[in-house]
Amino acid sequence: MAEQKATNVTWQDGQISREDRYQILRQKGVTIWFTGLSGSGKSTIAVALEEALFNMGKLSYRLDGDNVRLGINKNLGFSEQDRKENIRRIGEIAKLFGDAGTIALSSFISPYKIDRDEVRALHEAADLEFVEVFVDCSLAVAEERDPKGLYKKARAGQIKNFTGIDDPYEAPATPEIHLKTDEMTLEQEVSIVIDYLIDNEIIMRSYLTRADDQADSATAAAW
Ligand code: ADX
Repeated sequence: MAEQKATNVTWQDGQISREDRYQILRQKGVTIWFTGLSGSGKSTIAVALEEALFNMGKLSYRLDGDNVRLGINKNLGFSEQDRKENIRRIGEIAKLFGDAGTIALSSFISPYKIDRDEVRALHEAADLEFVEVFVDCSLAVAEERDPKGLYKKARAGQIKNFTGIDDPYEAPATPEIHLKTDEMTLEQEVSIVIDYLIDNEIIMRSYLTRADDQADSATAAAW
C-alpha cells in the first residue's frame, strides 16, 4: 500500500450519501476490472459491454490503459514500480466512479496479483463491489492478433519489458469471471458479464431499460 504523505488532512463528508446518488441514477456503482495480456481483448469487451449497458439504461465509464497513460498517468512507464503506481491510481479512480454511482470498466494489463489485490482491498474497505474479470487468451493467440504491432517490436528487441515476452503476467487464481477469448465470441463474453451482474444483484434487469425511460416521457420532459 502507498504510504500517506500529507499530514493534517481529514476526510470531509457531504450531505448527500452514496445511496442518494445511487437512487437518482437508479443503479449501484461497481468496478469491473478486466485483466489480461495486451491483445487479449480487454478493451474490446469493455467497449461492447459499455454499449450493452447503455442500451439497458445503465451509466458506465471506461478507464482504458492506453487512454489513461496519455493523460493522468503520462508520467509512468512500464517498470514494475510504474505499473504498480499506474494500477494504484486507476484503482483509486475506479473507486471514485463507483462511489459516484457509475459502473467503472477498467481495462489494464495489471500483471501483478498483489497490485490487483490491493485494488480489491481498497474497494472492500469502502464497501464497493469489485468484479475481477480474467480476460484469458494464450500468448500465441495474442501475439498472432498483435493489433498494435507491439509483440512484433518486442520480439525484435525494440520494446523492452513487454508483458508476456520479457516481463511477467500473473494470472488471477480466483477471478469472479473467467473469459477465454480464444474460444468464446464477443457476444458470449458480454452476456456472461451482464448475467453475472444481474445474478449478483449488482444491476437489475427489471426496472431499467431505455424503453421504460423513453415511455416515461413526463419525467424526461421535466429534465
Ligand atoms: S499495466 O501493466 O500497467 O497494467 P497498461 O494496461 O496500463 O499496463 O498498458 C498496456 C498498454 O501499453 C498495452 O496494451 C500496449 O499498448 C502498451 N505498451 C507499451 N509498452 C508496453 C510494455 N512494455 N508492456 C506492456 N504494454 C505496453
